[in-house]
Amino acid sequence: MILSPSILSADFGILAEQIKKAENAGAEWLHIDVMDGHFVPNISFAMPVIKSIRKYTDMFFDVHLMIDKPERYIEEFIKSGADGVTFHIEATEKPRECIELIRKYNKLVGISLNPNTDVSAIEEYLSEVDMVLVMSVEPGYGGQKYITSVNEKIRYLRNKLGEDFKIEVDGGINAYNIDTAINAGANIIVAGTAVFNDDIEGSVKGLMR
Ligand code: DX5
Ligand code: ZN
Repeated sequence: MILSPSILSADFGILAEQIKKAENAGAEWLHIDVMDGHFVPNISFAMPVIKSIRKYTDMFFDVHLMIDKPERYIEEFIKSGADGVTFHIEATEKPRECIELIRKYNKLVGISLNPNTDVSAIEEYLSEVDMVLVMSVEPGYGGQKYITSVNEKIRYLRNKLGEDFKIEVDGGINAYNIDTAINAGANIIVAGTAVFNDDIEGSVKGLMR
């Protein structure tokens, strides 16, 4: 599995330092949560932060766009340093345009669905994307509780997509429930509050499988 720590819960005053700790402890990806105050109630950060941290690490930048009409900004996020871009099916009427934009720059294409969105909403795009991000909390905030019913969705997707396909799970993961998500079929695990705490290295090591 790949661990993708979410910087949403990091201390932004010493962000580069905290990212380095996660990297040195073995995390390969960095999950970057972009929120616009429209698609989700919360606002986080965007291009300037991504550009700044790009100088300090070669980790894979896993950019999760929780924004309306993501097609408007995908190119800018790629130019800021994204290695992969994931958009929400609920946020756009032009999923194919999003896929093509990300593909054009040879970046990893991710499609995401909220806990209450049925897999049927993304089914027709599955052959065109590299990764499905299954939300295990309502997007918007770190530190929420894992919605266990999404395990069914993960299991269904794993069965359908085969053993190598990238299935990422995001929200409410900790050292106690990570194995249930992995057993359901997730192979990329996002963790925010469970990593960016007083013991980043120890927390990363405790989540690696
Ligand atoms: C939620 C974000 C998540 C979140 C994860 O909207 O997409 O990535 O930061 O944080 P935890 O692990 O604390 O649930
Ligand atoms: Zn996320």
